[in-house]
Amino acid sequence: MVSKKTAIIIGSSGEIGNFISQKLAYNNVRVILASRNYEVNSRIVSEIKNKGGEGYPYKLDVTIPEDVFSFIDDVGIKHGPVHFLIYLSGTGLPKPLSDTSVEYLDNVVDVNFKGFFLAVQRIIPLMKKNNFGRIVGFASPAGKKGLGFASAYSASKAALINFCQSVSLEIAHHNITINSICPKGLQTSFSKKAWTMLATYKGLTYEELLKNKLDEVGIQRRLDLEDLWPVVDMLLFRSSNALTGQSINICGSYEVR
Ligand SMILES: NC(=O)c1ccc[n+]([C@@H]2O[C@H](COP(=O)([O-])OP(=O)(O)OC[C@H]3O[C@@H](n4cnc5c(N)ncnc54)[C@H](OP(=O)(O)O)[C@@H]3O)[C@@H](O)[C@H]2O)c1
Repeated sequence: MVSKKTAIIIGSSGEIGNFISQKLAYNNVRVILASRNYEVNSRIVSEIKNKGGEGYPYKLDVTIPEDVFSFIDDVGIKHGPVHFLIYLSGTGLPKPLSDTSVEYLDNVVDVNFKGFFLAVQRIIPLMKKNNFGRIVGFASPAGKKGLGFASAYSASKAALINFCQSVSLEIAHHNITINSICPKGLQTSFSKKAWTMLATYKGLTYEELLKNKLDEVGIQRRLDLEDLWPVVDMLLFRSSNALTGQSINICGSYEVR
């Protein structure tokens, strides 16, 4: 029997985080769930346990660097070795540049990028000891092709993508990979809220914006959470250390490099 691996999922309480946590747990992975909302993480863990999986909830605010470090250390001590890190914490609903305050910008960068930077920095020594690690950060096509009315969000995702490229060069020979995923057109409450606000800023109705967006993604449907899984599965379980430093789009035929 294949021995159980351990995954840290940061941003587990969100829609994509919950989905990935459950998928991993039912694929024989011990899951460590972390974000600010401990109650939601506990609820997800209860569901996982009821279905025979193994999970542990944590409370973590990624904008507090020392908490990110102590969280990773604690997981390493109690549940190590850690094989996988999936970072989904994200924030930043659309906002015109003129309304983007320093506080808003700091928070978007801290959650979308800096938390990832710190978690990766802390986990790499643990993964090196085991000569294995698979790290995945959730970015966005907005990090490759700037999105109007989302300058802080787009820039923070660009930083995450670029960071993966840089770090991959330092760690590939330790059999640790780091990649990002860029989904577009998912049907989640985050994207629904974001698209509703974007429509207002662009002077469109939500339905008009949706039609434009569906034209852009080509497949003429919004993406489903299940569309994400084959890529996550490949990056965690099926790829060698040759697949690293990449940013993989899951966005229909929407043109973005
Ligand atoms: N949904 C989409 O269509 C889409 C498209 C492209 C990219 N993405 C990216 O995919 C990721 C997940 O998206 P989603 O749709 O699942 O969003 P979501 O449901 O809004 O989830 C966001 C997650 O971020 C966590 N978070 C926010 N601030 C945090 C903080 N200070 N410390 C720790 N965690 C924090 C939230 O947890 P707590 O509130 O419990 O802290 C939650 O788990 C995000 O990075 C998003 O940018 C999503």
